[in-house]
Amino acid sequence: MARLKSIYRCQECGYSDPKGMGQCPSCSAWNTMVEEVVEASPAKAVRRTLAEGASSAVAAVSALAEVRDETEVRTPTGIAELDRLLGGGVVPGQVSLVAGPPGIGKSTLMLQAAAALAAPGRKILYVSGEESPLQVSSRAKRIGAAAQSLYLMAETDLSKILRAMDEHKPWGVVIDSIQTLSHPDLASTPGSVGQVRECAMEIVRTAKSSGAAAFVLGHVTKDGTLAGPRVLEHVVDSVFYFDAERHELLRVLRAVKNRFGPTDEAGIFEMTERGLREVPNPSAFFMADSKDAGPRPGRAVSITMEGSRPVLVEVQALAVPTRYPLPRRTATGIDLNRVLVLLAALEKHLKLRLDSRDVYVSLAGGLRVKDPALDLAVCLAVASSLREAPLPEDAVFLGEVSLLGGVGRVPQTENRLREAAKAGFSRAVLSARAARDVSRLPGLAVSGAAGLAEAAGLFFQDIKEPLS
Ligand code: TYD
Ligand code: MG
Repeated sequence: MARLKSIYRCQECGYSDPKGMGQCPSCSAWNTMVEEVVEASPAKAVRRTLAEGASSAVAAVSALAEVRDETEVRTPTGIAELDRLLGGGVVPGQVSLVAGPPGIGKSTLMLQAAAALAAPGRKILYVSGEESPLQVSSRAKRIGAAAQSLYLMAETDLSKILRAMDEHKPWGVVIDSIQTLSHPDLASTPGSVGQVRECAMEIVRTAKSSGAAAFVLGHVTKDGTLAGPRVLEHVVDSVFYFDAERHELLRVLRAVKNRFGPTDEAGIFEMTERGLREVPNPSAFFMADSKDAGPRPGRAVSITMEGSRPVLVEVQALAVPTRYPLPRRTATGIDLNRVLVLLAALEKHLKLRLDSRDVYVSLAGGLRVKDPALDLAVCLAVASSLREAPLPEDAVFLGEVSLLGGVGRVPQTENRLREAAKAGFSRAVLSARAARDVSRLPGLAVSGAAGLAEAAGLFFQDIKEPLS
């Protein structure tokens, strides 16, 4: 076994020093010296191996054709929304980073996944460096996560964790969280860049050699980065970010990197009293409150994409006479700047008088969306509120609105329309070109509009006449 020591290396110029310091003596950069583990005398170590000529030193070479495709052996976690992200299930030796802000539900989700994986008797080791065994077990009781082969370890010392993995040979391990671990050969504090990276590399090494699947949890700081400049992302196989939609209820897990699965997927969960519940049909979730309410001015339905899944969204607009010298505009769940541009387009191309109105735009159900496909729905919802004329309840609106008042095509039109048809909508308004190209769906009539004026003209009479 080679002797190890720790050094500090500048992340800018590569200069190394046995001592940690604020400024690199070589390139003068600040806060770039990061601790890492190296062999005490690498040159000697190599010479010794060469001299010994030991067969054990020969690197394994295998025919490419004979390399087993490990992605064929997938084990579903039993949590469908997580499996969707994993591309069907966990691959042996796969190391996944589950990152998110504190309190989002990382520990809850992974405890549920650990219990589900352990249910058929697989040995799963849940390592918690943040909570006591009592805290973890009381949470497990609360969410009904009880499995005979789910083991718990409250530990932050990496060497003890690796030894436990070696001894107990778990099928999978959850590390909660990477920021609490401390590497025995490093002097820096847990959570520092060097600690996080070295600990993660050790876990990856152990997972790869033992075939254990590992989920590593990590907190992201306020500015959205993991402790250290995304140091972990290239070390692990998969990176999932867990974040809340505007309403605290909804949690979305997104794949940022995925060596064994898709990166355009999203898993949607709802935080309940008894842990996270999957939301397999988000459209129904977001539209639930709006059903059976009857036609209302200011409402327009559109379809956005959440990962590869189309989701119906209800745009709500309110245009009321202003009492302020400068009319108010607010947007909830949608980019305010985008709304301002759309209001300007409405004024210019439909001659709507919005300068004397406060305008509020919101997405129902607490969804947060950045998707130009909603433009047309936003515009028509505002016009509908202003005119106090409801749009047909059974219609969806899909299209990007340009500054010149044109309505443009959006990606995945057919996918989106299929979702609308499935939910019982019978009419769709799209860009003229999209309406021509899209294949017909039974029960869904499609109208094309070249521009905003044409689209509005379908529903409001004399739309280009200035209001009083
Ligand atoms: P947690 O999984 O501890 O978050 P993280 O590990 O990402 O920091 O979840 C914390 C929040 O979730 C906490 O505010 C309480 C809430 N929660 C519920 O609402 N229901 C539950 O069943 C559980 C276990 C937690
Ligand atoms: Mg936690």
